[in-house]
Amino acid sequence: MNTHHTSTLVLGGTGKTGRRVVERLRSRGLPVRVGSRAGEPPFDWEDRSTWAPALEGAGSVYLTYYPDIAVPGAVDAVGEFAALAVRSGAPRIALLSGRGEPEAERAEQAVRATGAELTILRSTWFMQNFSEDYMLEHVLSGEIRLPGGDVPTPFLDIDDLADVAVAALTDDRHVGRLYELTGPHSLTFADAAAVIAAAAGRPLRYVPVTLEEHAAELRDHGVPIEVVDLLTYLFDEVVDGRNADTTDGVRDALGREPRDFAAYAAEAAAAGAWDPVPAPSR
Ligand SMILES: NC(=O)c1ccc[n+]([C@@H]2O[C@H](COP(=O)([O-])OP(=O)(O)OC[C@H]3O[C@@H](n4cnc5c(N)ncnc54)[C@H](OP(=O)(O)O)[C@@H]3O)[C@@H](O)[C@H]2O)c1
Repeated sequence: MNTHHTSTLVLGGTGKTGRRVVERLRSRGLPVRVGSRAGEPPFDWEDRSTWAPALEGAGSVYLTYYPDIAVPGAVDAVGEFAALAVRSGAPRIALLSGRGEPEAERAEQAVRATGAELTILRSTWFMQNFSEDYMLEHVLSGEIRLPGGDVPTPFLDIDDLADVAVAALTDDRHVGRLYELTGPHSLTFADAAAVIAAAAGRPLRYVPVTLEEHAAELRDHGVPIEVVDLLTYLFDEVVDGRNADTTDGVRDALGREPRDFAAYAAEAAAAGAWDPVPAPSR
């Protein structure tokens, strides 16, 4: 046993999925290093000199790219980082990828080409986007205004994703596997809005808009142009019906069913994710 290579480097370890992976590894008593700009030592995708120090002492990596594996530059950065990880003694990699995104599949290939002991987690859209990311503001405003048409999406609970990631990092039988991960049902945005409204006890409706209207509204809100372009790409490429079906990925990896949207919404509501924002005191 190589005692110098025992910890797991969790990139994005303070983010939506990484935080959950960190919690799970720690609760098993496994050593973890949080890879983020606030980490010790700091890790920054924009500064390659931080990559090797972050990998020091790591034997495995949960690899998430920020902001999205589909943005320009991601394929090169992810491939170069994975090659460095393999050379540094951290060949075991669980890669978070995106389902139905050609750019994400190029990044998967770049990591596979390094010879890593790779497990690919090719995930559909996260349920938690409604409570921990850009769709939260929509929910709180009472209107989900997105260019999602009436196409169903089999949203995934990222607690399931984190369970699969930890399995991949700790159990050899996941090496070489590609898991397409979805939740158990496909929901339209209108369906999702109805479930959240009921769970949160607040009015909420889905208002389909065009890609152009959506981009204009984002720009009006001061959203940076790269983010506008990214969301436009994702809604154009991913939410077009090709990725509407559910998969057996969670069951294949974990031997149990994925959690459904109603369970997610009930838990997020109970945790206060959609509580009314208190009015500022005077
Ligand atoms: N959202 C979805 O529905 C979905 C679906 C499939 C796949 N994905 C993939 O999920 C990945 C994102 O994972 P996530 O949602 O778990 O993360 P997230 O919550 O979006 O990411 C935030 C994390 O990234 C870190 N970070 C920000 N800027 C960084 C930088 N320049 N260098 C290093 N770290 C940085 C943050 O920490 P610091 O601020 O401390 O640096 C934080 O830990 C993307 O690659 C996306 O393609 C998302």
